[in-house]
Amino acid sequence: MKLLSKVTVGLFTAALLFVGCGNDAKPTSQETVKPTISEESLGLRKTNLYAEEAETIGHQANYSTAVAGSGNMIKRAFQDAPPMIPHDIEGMLIITINDNQCTTCHMPEVAESMGATPLPSSHFTDFRPATSVNNEGRLTKNGKAIVNTTNVNMDDISIKSTGSHLAGSRFNCTLCHAPQSGDDLAVQNNFEPDFTNKDGASASSWSGTKLMEGLDTINGI
Ligand code: HEC
Ligand code: HEC
Repeated sequence: MKLLSKVTVGLFTAALLFVGCGNDAKPTSQETVKPTISEESLGLRKTNLYAEEAETIGHQANYSTAVAGSGNMIKRAFQDAPPMIPHDIEGMLIITINDNQCTTCHMPEVAESMGATPLPSSHFTDFRPATSVNNEGRLTKNGKAIVNTTNVNMDDISIKSTGSHLAGSRFNCTLCHAPQSGDDLAVQNNFEPDFTNKDGASASSWSGTKLMEGLDTINGI
């Protein structure tokens, strides 16, 4: 009995010492990294992304199912922003060289009868200079040999009308135009556009010579 209590007291003391040592000892490198910002708080979803439990399911992209022609429109984000696609584009993608359904409704000659916004004049404008390599192996833009591919004077930029032919750089519509998800944003957007045109929220102002304002271009439209 006596021996047992001695052992117990001994163990107890040892335990106390151990705890004491534990407190006084320098923390290991893992202990020093006291997380002040939890991983869960870093994302927009304040949930454990590793567990991927029900609460971690992301917002579903909730695109408009309004068929083209139902009159659904989205306000432009800022003056001359590429408008968001307000209608369903199911079955219209991918755009290929032989199949661009967007043009079947948005080309100016058909747009009115389809109730669609016609493609603006910028989409019938070629901003790229004719570029080739001359006999001496030098890069030429609009027939002029150039030293650098970029030029601060912008005198190698040419603006030419492509007539009724859609400019190649505008062929892939969804490069710039995207559908808009109707979901509530986890973070609210407080941006307030300051439209320079009174109808800037619904129409592009890039037309005619406005495209060339301030640009010293080689060829005018
Ligand atoms: C069947 C005809 C049709 C097709 C095909 C079509 N659209 Fe549309 N689009 C419309 C109509 C009509 C509107 C006007 C809104 C409405 O009534 O749906 C519109 C509106 C838009 C707008 C908004 C214009 C604005 O003034 O805000 C964009 C951008 C757009 N479409 C892009 C596209 C793209 C990109 C494609 C191809 C992926 C496409 N559309 C295919 C008919 C069409
Ligand atoms: C390189 C980017 C780009 C591509 C590619 C492009 N657009 Fe646009 N689009 C814009 C921008 C920027 C605007 C607004 C400024 C302007 O008018 O150029 C616009 C404007 C529009 C408008 C509104 C016109 C108006 O008068 O308000 C329609 C409709 C449109 N685009 C449809 C299309 C369709 C359909 C295609 C494919 C055939 C296409 N765009 C390809 C950038 C692009």
